[in-house]
Amino acid sequence: MSSELTVVAPGRVNIIGDHTDYTGGLVLPMAIDLALTIVGRRGGSAVELRSTEEPEPARVPLDIEDPATAVPFWARYVAGVVAVTRPAAGFAGRLSSTIPPGAGLSSSAALEVGVALATGFSGSVVELAQACQTAEKLASGVPCGIMDQLASAGGREGHAMMIDCHTLNIDYVPMPSDVEVVVIFGHHRQLAGSPYAQRTQQCAAAEAIIGPLRLATLAAITRIEDPLVAMRAHHVISENQRVREFSAAMAKGDYRTAGDLMFDSHQSLRNDFETSTPEMDSLVSSLIVERGVFGARMTGGGFGGCVVALTEPGALADGWHVKASAGAHIR
Ligand code: GLA
Repeated sequence: MSSELTVVAPGRVNIIGDHTDYTGGLVLPMAIDLALTIVGRRGGSAVELRSTEEPEPARVPLDIEDPATAVPFWARYVAGVVAVTRPAAGFAGRLSSTIPPGAGLSSSAALEVGVALATGFSGSVVELAQACQTAEKLASGVPCGIMDQLASAGGREGHAMMIDCHTLNIDYVPMPSDVEVVVIFGHHRQLAGSPYAQRTQQCAAAEAIIGPLRLATLAAITRIEDPLVAMRAHHVISENQRVREFSAAMAKGDYRTAGDLMFDSHQSLRNDFETSTPEMDSLVSSLIVERGVFGARMTGGGFGGCVVALTEPGALADGWHVKASAGAHIR
């Protein structure tokens, strides 16, 4: 066995730009200071992890065939990484995490990225994210985009990331020190079994009629007959535009406009994309009338999870006051 190493892989919060990544659109997440830590040594013929969060350990042989059959459930994500990256040696270690599971803060992406680094993955940030996205799809069956894995792999301290999910170019957006990003837990959710996959199909149906949504205009939507498909397209096209406008507003220090765009994004996810829930809607409504809150919206895949707010420092007592953090690394 080799010497002990420590891997830190952060969760992420998406500030704006949801349900755009799998059509090659724009997203603006940041890696956060809620993170997963793996400590252990390389060697052996299996990846063996004990977690402080889970009663059963994960033990995944390096020749695992189908990650979706691994037990216990969380071992599927470890198995997904092993099946995609085929590490030369196994790993034995322990895992702890401050990322709440089932909250939409990418605990599974952090696990994948952490396991890939622990087992010696040596590609670029984008290659790491792509491998882990494939692992996530194999493990969960959810046809996710690349945002979560890329945010965990490529975060930068003090910066959000405007990612073009078509070119996979990352523009690092400095997060000013006179605003806070606060994440408030709404309610538990799991994307597997949710209508997430159906949403990706509806976007594909829209693209079959009007071409790539990342290039389409709102005017083109009139060519879509199915009203649900038209609504989904309306969300994606307008959300891409909001990401651009949000980034420009932040660069000018115009937090009011940035906050309004977050609220518009929430409304679009609620009305056109139908990924919010009544609990998340009332949380957003109660936050945006608070003094010092510029904007708030549901964040991530939806159907539960968290709300993210942009505020003046100290405006909210509750929630995680998250800091833009470095991406996954070996310490
Ligand atoms: C989940 C997926 C991401 C992305 C978001 C919605 O977090 O894993 O790829 O699609 O939902 O923006």
